[in-house]
Amino acid sequence: MAKKSKPNSVVGALNNVLADYYLLTLKTHGFHWNVEGPNFAELHGLFEKQYEQLGEIVDRVAERARALGGFAAGSLEQYLRLTRLTEQTGDRYPARSMIEALLADHEALIRSLREDIEFVSGECGDEGTTDFLIGLMQEHEKIAWMLRAYLS
Ligand SMILES: [Fe+2]
Repeated sequence: MAKKSKPNSVVGALNNVLADYYLLTLKTHGFHWNVEGPNFAELHGLFEKQYEQLGEIVDRVAERARALGGFAAGSLEQYLRLTRLTEQTGDRYPARSMIEALLADHEALIRSLREDIEFVSGECGDEGTTDFLIGLMQEHEKIAWMLRAYLS
């Protein structure tokens, strides 16, 4: 499911990550609005917590790109070009399939972050960004665990 766009700089890698986060934040927010079923209140609240957490990370990723002297992508056109995730269009999905879709995206993001970490630490030798991305990966491992728990 992942589209690949290989970065050629730390800022390039951060913009790929930024695009992934933007898409996943939007998808999670959409699920918060549109979830239905007997677990509505719980999932509505869970998705809200997650899009808030992701939205806060979006800002940190963008500002790290700026701190390194680069620019942060700020348009949907750029995000669609840069992301390794895919959008889910349409508004009506069973609650379980929403959780499955988010889990798949968080797992894909963990795999992409692992590659990004290898790139920024190995090829670029940027320890600060490596450390930053490792922190993000750990947040996803926790979110993925929570989503997985709903499916078991
Ligand atoms: Fe809301």
